[in-house]
Amino acid sequence: MKHLIVYSHLNPESFTKAIVDEIEKSSTAAGNEVKVVDLYSIGFDPVMQFPDIQGMFMGGDTPSDVKAQQELITWADHFSLVFPLWWGQMPAMMKGYIDRVYASGFAFEYTETGVDQKLKGKSAKVFVCHGSPDEYYQQTDMHKALKRVFDDGVLGFCGVDTDIHFYGNVAMGSDELRKGYLADIAKVY
Ligand SMILES: Cc1cc2nc3c(=O)[nH]c(=O)nc-3n(C[C@H](O)[C@H](O)[C@H](O)COP(=O)(O)O)c2cc1C
Repeated sequence: MKHLIVYSHLNPESFTKAIVDEIEKSSTAAGNEVKVVDLYSIGFDPVMQFPDIQGMFMGGDTPSDVKAQQELITWADHFSLVFPLWWGQMPAMMKGYIDRVYASGFAFEYTETGVDQKLKGKSAKVFVCHGSPDEYYQQTDMHKALKRVFDDGVLGFCGVDTDIHFYGNVAMGSDELRKGYLADIAKVY
């Protein structure tokens, strides 16, 4: 399959980047064609501006940086989105990527009979690293809330069959725990 990995992290030494490297390694070894987008290194502008809206609703041209990302999504059968949890949510960089790239007319469209899910047939996995322990976020329904955001609000809304993986306690947990998370990727891809 054609596999697109999109990630948000400002530090190339981060655990998030280690997850990305492991996904790329594992998926390539499984025979997939893999492309990686590092939103920071390409200098992606996550702030939606008037030309984005003109492109979506007013017959204007889609901004070229958005178009380049949409072409990658069209190319891919499967995506991985990878990011650390910041304030219980995806970082602004990842959020802005979704705001601008998963545009009306490209990823979905409202019609008289409901939402036209334009990315149907594709699948995705979301990988979220966070500082709080998994057990705590299970008890508080934080995992459930994040799963709903991606299943109902973002990828699933556009017709993408979505799965979400959480890696908790990454900063304060043991090396064994982090190694276990990296080993888990080989079972996912
Ligand atoms: C601005 C900011 C906000 C954060 N908010 C949360 C949070 O809401 N919940 C949480 O569990 N961890 C939170 N963290 C911790 C990060 O999720 C954690 O440090 C990260 O997943 C570690 O992986 P990394 O090495 O890839 O950064 C936050 C970190 C930062 C910098």
